[in-house]
Amino acid sequence: MTDNNAIEPDPQYLHAKAWAEEYELVDRQFSSLGLIAMQELQLVHGETVLDVGCGTGQTLLQLAERVGGNGHVLGVDIAGRLLEVAARRTAHLGHVTLIKSDAQILDLPSHSVDAVFSRFGVMSFNDPVAAFSNFRRILKPDGRLAFCCWQALHENELDHFPLEAAGFPKAADERPFSLSDPQYVQTVLATAGFDAVEVRPHKELVTSGDVEAMTRVLLKVGPLGKIVRENPAIQSTVEPKLRKALESLGDQVSTRLAAAIWIVTARPN
Ligand SMILES: C[S@@+](CC[C@H](N)C(=O)[O-])C[C@H]1O[C@@H](n2cnc3c(N)ncnc32)[C@H](O)[C@@H]1O
Repeated sequence: MTDNNAIEPDPQYLHAKAWAEEYELVDRQFSSLGLIAMQELQLVHGETVLDVGCGTGQTLLQLAERVGGNGHVLGVDIAGRLLEVAARRTAHLGHVTLIKSDAQILDLPSHSVDAVFSRFGVMSFNDPVAAFSNFRRILKPDGRLAFCCWQALHENELDHFPLEAAGFPKAADERPFSLSDPQYVQTVLATAGFDAVEVRPHKELVTSGDVEAMTRVLLKVGPLGKIVRENPAIQSTVEPKLRKALESLGDQVSTRLAAAIWIVTARPN
């Protein structure tokens, strides 16, 4: 693993810790959502693809299968703790390289990758135009960009249902929804040097498994997870409320909530 000298931001520490602990449950929720965006890239064997904010690496495995052993997958993430999990999961794959860096300033050669992909890893940039301009620089002239990001909180039952169940109807953290306005996404990507920008809505019921699995993961990640992990004293009161609300949905074996995302695709102009 190379280290591009990024400092792991302290506010992200608890997020990374929670994610690293529950990545299998998160992957169950997110796998199909990421695959829809990945499919848009139409990757073929031998290509090089960059996974932005690759986290614990499920998408690295999925990308590696698509580009084959003669291709190359580069995964970048700012959180070393998540890259450690990704490194374990991809250790058997010689064509996966992990880079610890702030993706906004990722120092890869210009025109060196065929495709840039992300599953929910592009919403936290301080300067989105600078970040996407950097991806535009790294992409080959005929390269492709595809990512998924969240629609607004009120569209996302996966996020607002747990918040309401716990008595926090509004999310404290707006960052996951920073690309929820499709017009803004269009503007950012056009300013960063992309065209053929398409922002397509997708809604799907997702699950991490039964009521216990969903209770556990929703207390760790997402908007409610952020509130609980930063205020651990409230967990004992929030947990039974959330469990009861999830039980009331009726399906104890596969407890599903609707996720509303944008599938964004673009090409360098
Ligand atoms: C919501 S998680 C998604 C992780 C992974 N893509 C997945 O779907 O499992 C967002 C990821 O983006 C990473 N991230 C956030 N800001 C970043 C930045 N500026 N540069 C690189 N990675 C970043 C986080 O560390 C985290 O792993």
